[in-house]
Amino acid sequence: NEGALWGGRFASGPADALARLSKSTHFDFRLARYDIAGSRAHARVLHRTGLLTEAELEGMLSALNRLEEDVLSGAFAPAHSDEDVHGALERGLLERAGQELGGKLRAGRSRNDQIATMGRMFLRDHARVIAAGVLETIDALVAQAQAHPEAPMPGRTHLQHAQPVLLSHHLLAHAWAFTRDLQRLTDWDKRAAVSPYGSGALAGSSLGLDPQRVAEELGFTEAAWNSIDGTAARDVYAEFAWVSAMIGVDLSRISEEVIFWATKEAGFVTLDDAFSTGSSIMPQKKNPDVAELARGKSGRLIGDLTGLMATLKGLPLAYNRDLQEDKEPLFDAVDTLELLLPAVSGMIGTLVFHTEKMAELAPRGFALATDIAEWLVRQGVPFRVAHELAGEAVRVAEARDVELWDLTDEEFAGISEHLTPAVREVLTTFGSLNSRSSRGGTAPSAVAEQLQELDRQLEPL
Ligand code: ARG
Repeated sequence: NEGALWGGRFASGPADALARLSKSTHFDFRLARYDIAGSRAHARVLHRTGLLTEAELEGMLSALNRLEEDVLSGAFAPAHSDEDVHGALERGLLERAGQELGGKLRAGRSRNDQIATMGRMFLRDHARVIAAGVLETIDALVAQAQAHPEAPMPGRTHLQHAQPVLLSHHLLAHAWAFTRDLQRLTDWDKRAAVSPYGSGALAGSSLGLDPQRVAEELGFTEAAWNSIDGTAARDVYAEFAWVSAMIGVDLSRISEEVIFWATKEAGFVTLDDAFSTGSSIMPQKKNPDVAELARGKSGRLIGDLTGLMATLKGLPLAYNRDLQEDKEPLFDAVDTLELLLPAVSGMIGTLVFHTEKMAELAPRGFALATDIAEWLVRQGVPFRVAHELAGEAVRVAEARDVELWDLTDEEFAGISEHLTPAVREVLTTFGSLNSRSSRGGTAPSAVAEQLQELDRQLEPL
């Protein structure tokens, strides 16, 4: 078992089937940069403790630098005999620093605390990239809202016309969801900023190393307070996977709407050519593939989360080799979101809204019935009765196949003496919109305030 990180107690090397099963370099080598950063911090802590001389430290750091350059340039890559990223990099270090010096670095650390730390470093870096992508998506939504501050559209529940709302209000509803996703990433980072380095295999180190120094050098705020937890816990990974899945679901929700809006039947939007695709047979087709891929890939992100959770369930403390399975779902989640976010934000930012069509449809389908009921309440009618009377107005209009504003004064009066011609003041889209002016409502004035508050909440993110 030449070159392996273990082997002293074994008379023979691993079976070929085991070696193939065990191997993880084809995915974990992308953590190499982080493992080398950890090695540098570890070398310094060994030196501070007196386990490396000044000259040895310098030799070690220079070998690590050369190794890093070779990793980045591709000159150094995992060999067939390397089990994982740690084994490969140890081989690379020994080749550069020599057996004697290179062999000193492994003192006081274990692949168990290394890998737990590398994963956190990787995720923290990518959380920033993903946060920037989410912020771009929010910016695209806000820009579209600002470009259409007073365009009405049909507000729906159960996908049925419910009440008119402003397009800006609707778009900002998505922006709020993405803002919470951003807040989640920021909040997650507090828990991810704890370094497991120094936890050793599970029990800590006997060499008097200083985990706090290592933590700070690697950009963490503090070192783990429990070495068993440090090496075995993956809840921070699972939380990241959940936030990723949630971002995926939020991307999927708006994508589903874009797909619907782009249908001939709705005709609310035209997709930009740069963010739509054609058909190999139907020359006229313009397809919302970006939105569909977002909807599809959200399923994949949910799979990454559930796969990881299933791996963690039932694991006893501390490290178990099952944990090698934690990396691929996380890499997949990160890669998926980093691919998806720029495409979705680009698609949203370039949508052309057909505001006349939307405004025309906004009050239709008796979407102002609630306004009649609430107008009656303001005249002193109990809501139970008002709801009944407005419902009767819908029944009369539906029977005649007209909208509520087409009813005659006589028809209104026939339903109730309370339904005087003055009710017509709420039977327009803007009569309805303007009346919903309290906090969170869809009136233009309330949406303007909402935008300011959203800005305020985005400030620290
Ligand atoms: N490659 C392993 C992982 O990804 C780390 C190695 C720990 N192996 C071990 N036998 N303790 O989790």
